[in-house]
Amino acid sequence: TVLAQTHRPRFHFSPKAHWINDPNGMVYYKGVYHLFCQYYPESSVWGPMHWVHATSKDMVHWQEQPVALYPDSLGYIFSGSAVADVNNTTGFGKNGQTPLVAIFTHHNPKLEKQKPEQVESQSLAYSLDEGKTWTKYAGNPVLSNPGITDFRDPKVRWYEAGKKWIMTLATKDRITFFSSPDLKSWSKESDFGSDAGAHGGVWECPDLFPLTHNGKTVWVLIVNINPGGPNGGSATQYFLGDFDGKAFKAYSKETKWMDFGPDNYAGVTFSNTGNRTVLMGWMNNWQYADKVPTSPWRGATTVPREMGLKAVGKELYLTSTPIKELNVLDEPGVSLKNLTVKDSYDLTAKTKKETSLFKLELTAPATADFSVVLANKQGNELVVGYDKKANTYYIDRSKSGKIDFEKGFGKRHTAPRLSADANLSMTLLADVASVELFADGGLTVMTEIFFPESDMTQLSIKSAQGIAISSLKLTPLNASQKE
Ligand code: FRU
Repeated sequence: TVLAQTHRPRFHFSPKAHWINDPNGMVYYKGVYHLFCQYYPESSVWGPMHWVHATSKDMVHWQEQPVALYPDSLGYIFSGSAVADVNNTTGFGKNGQTPLVAIFTHHNPKLEKQKPEQVESQSLAYSLDEGKTWTKYAGNPVLSNPGITDFRDPKVRWYEAGKKWIMTLATKDRITFFSSPDLKSWSKESDFGSDAGAHGGVWECPDLFPLTHNGKTVWVLIVNINPGGPNGGSATQYFLGDFDGKAFKAYSKETKWMDFGPDNYAGVTFSNTGNRTVLMGWMNNWQYADKVPTSPWRGATTVPREMGLKAVGKELYLTSTPIKELNVLDEPGVSLKNLTVKDSYDLTAKTKKETSLFKLELTAPATADFSVVLANKQGNELVVGYDKKANTYYIDRSKSGKIDFEKGFGKRHTAPRLSADANLSMTLLADVASVELFADGGLTVMTEIFFPESDMTQLSIKSAQGIAISSLKLTPLNASQKE
């Protein structure tokens, strides 16, 4: 039944039991999406890191698989990426088989005290059976530490113009790019960022990928940072610029935020997805990840998001929108046009389905304050709204149920509205204990988790001033395939 495991998300990946953090090694191969996550199989707090594995045909329904990578004599298995080595540059492939190759950080806890600058190095593992089993490369590590305490989270992609692999690595307060012909020998190309962006915390989990805007290639550099996020704790900043196979040149040194909510961290993209760029993050925040009131597991991923670009005046921004595959969850819903809301409008009566799993899409002139309120019979409330005067979106979880496990949790978070359009639009995905807000075509995004004392069964729109909503669509989501 729904409440068999209170707060268990239904269309987001979460492990059956124990702890996960960052998504790792995301790769598409032969009709299957592979997701790995930082995982500790003995407890639901962080510990010696493994990679747990999950597979999916649509990035929506995930099946947990056996653990893929275990710690070894070189240390814990920290974050990293995976590629399909279709040209067999590594020589790992036998009999024409394409090797899947994971490039990850070995973190050696034994060196933490004596030689902190040697703790982290980069290593390989490969699979010749489409991701089922993995073998560590005998020549590990392939990139030793040059003396930098934080030296981790390799994200590797094939750079076709230069016929070489590019590794984007987080190196303390900057990003370092390396290149390789075979994933085994790496040469440093350049550094970026010690004088750019936000530096409230260490730089982690980077990604580098091209997108096109008006026929022009724009490179996106994702840099996760912990702490120092716009709403506290960990968050994801990005830079737009050019990349020539050697160096990244940012159009601007100023930080932009991919997601203003507190609960989207360590997001990176799938490899081998052609012209599509799909990102998933860890739906949590280091500020309280080890205290969230879920059991017997802790941690989940965000929904997969399609990455795009959108201009507002002369400024270009990265956009995130839910992947279209999520539409398989749609149940018949209700569509309303020209709905005038004064004070409160109850949407619960409009759908007989459960209201803790839904997609709400609406368009309205950006002329008045309004909010979408999820509530339950205990009086818990989760409020998602637009503040006209401040021109911000916000999510307020200060009365959302269990909040006292961490003092900074029960807050109201804000995000600037970046769009200059007269009409605002919102797509809101709710999954039992999370909301993901994609406003204005993914220009402003907020991801938040919350822990109500019972399912949120009431849904309403509120506006004291009154607002005319041009269109509203409420779609209940069917995710009954999960326990
Ligand atoms: C980010 C991170 C990574 C590291 C991993 C360890 O959340 O700190 O930098 O590889 O988690 O679990």
